[in-house]
Amino acid sequence: MSPTRTSDVLVVGGGIIGLVTAWRAAQRGLSTTVVDPEPGGGAAQVAAGMLAAVTELHHGEQTLLGLNLASAERYPAFAAELTEATGHDLGYRRCGTLAVALDADDRAHLRELHALHQRSGLDSEWLTGRECRRLEPMLAPGVRGGLRVDGDHQIDPRRLAAALVTACERAGVAFRREWAERLTLDGDRATGVVTRAGNALGAGQTVLAAGSLSGRLAGVPTEVLPPVRPVKGQVLRLTMPQRYGPFLSRTVRAVVRGSHVYLVPRENGELVIGATSEELGFDTTVTAGGVYELLRDAHELVPGLTELPLTETQAGLRPGSPDNAPLLGPTGLDGLLLATGHHRNGVLLTPVTGDALAHALTTGELPDVARPFTPRRFGAAALQEQPA
Ligand code: GLY
Repeated sequence: MSPTRTSDVLVVGGGIIGLVTAWRAAQRGLSTTVVDPEPGGGAAQVAAGMLAAVTELHHGEQTLLGLNLASAERYPAFAAELTEATGHDLGYRRCGTLAVALDADDRAHLRELHALHQRSGLDSEWLTGRECRRLEPMLAPGVRGGLRVDGDHQIDPRRLAAALVTACERAGVAFRREWAERLTLDGDRATGVVTRAGNALGAGQTVLAAGSLSGRLAGVPTEVLPPVRPVKGQVLRLTMPQRYGPFLSRTVRAVVRGSHVYLVPRENGELVIGATSEELGFDTTVTAGGVYELLRDAHELVPGLTELPLTETQAGLRPGSPDNAPLLGPTGLDGLLLATGHHRNGVLLTPVTGDALAHALTTGELPDVARPFTPRRFGAAALQEQPA
């Protein structure tokens, strides 16, 4: 059955990626609907919001680096436009990041990262332990060195999500607050979805932007089903004292015994500590072990944080992909596009994803910057590697 067409574009998933896609599509004159039981929810409610193109660079991810940098470059104008459109403060802070090392192994790891930055033409500066502590006096005396990266900033993802909902509403995007259950097809063309409540939502183009759930929409032919999987991240929120100057003035991060830990201080006094990385399927349980490990590692970096009130513990699901990079744009099925698989970089990649999807929805093509991230790069072999 093909539902009657109700809009030009139907976006399945109202997290930040779905919302930015809908906002940009509506700005281009396309009538747009978002289907999601809780728009503005999802991983953005948990994420710390680091815009860490440089400090989260990994070997073998040079192509992704290009997209990350392109999005980081768009952030100031994107944040200004979104604030202007909605009146929302996004908690966007151009505060920079300090990546530090606690022992010889961490130091060697960080030296490697610095060399990779230099080979990639990225700005980062090596500091001694004493120089790190001069920048951030709450750091442990044992810090052995660090990398100062003044270009890696932060935004508050909860505020970003709320602002995008408002921006969509103001741009005329329609919201259907229900679960999309099944993709509908007319021959070899996607025509929309049927919801769990049995409502048919028809559209000229359907964008699957449901984060870690993107591989679960029924009716999507196997050859175009996105190979995304949930990667659990547990995150803590503490409250910093505001009386004696900043507790931390920039994001501080480290790799402690092989695990990434980061501390993101917000202007409103919130200190976000993250994150575990666990492959456990669709499990969002906060565990004693996860909380213990985060606090243990964060305490090694900043011993004074044990005095702070612990206000929230949460777990969210990153949409992991086989190469840690997103899947953007048209699929092999006419009328079906993807905006998913952003893994560790969803908040950072929000501006460039919105632009790339709007371009694809209006021209049928990805812009050059997003072309390497076509879903078509995954063949049948990659799909077979995914867990059932
Ligand atoms: N980008 C931070 C994280 O995924 O934990």
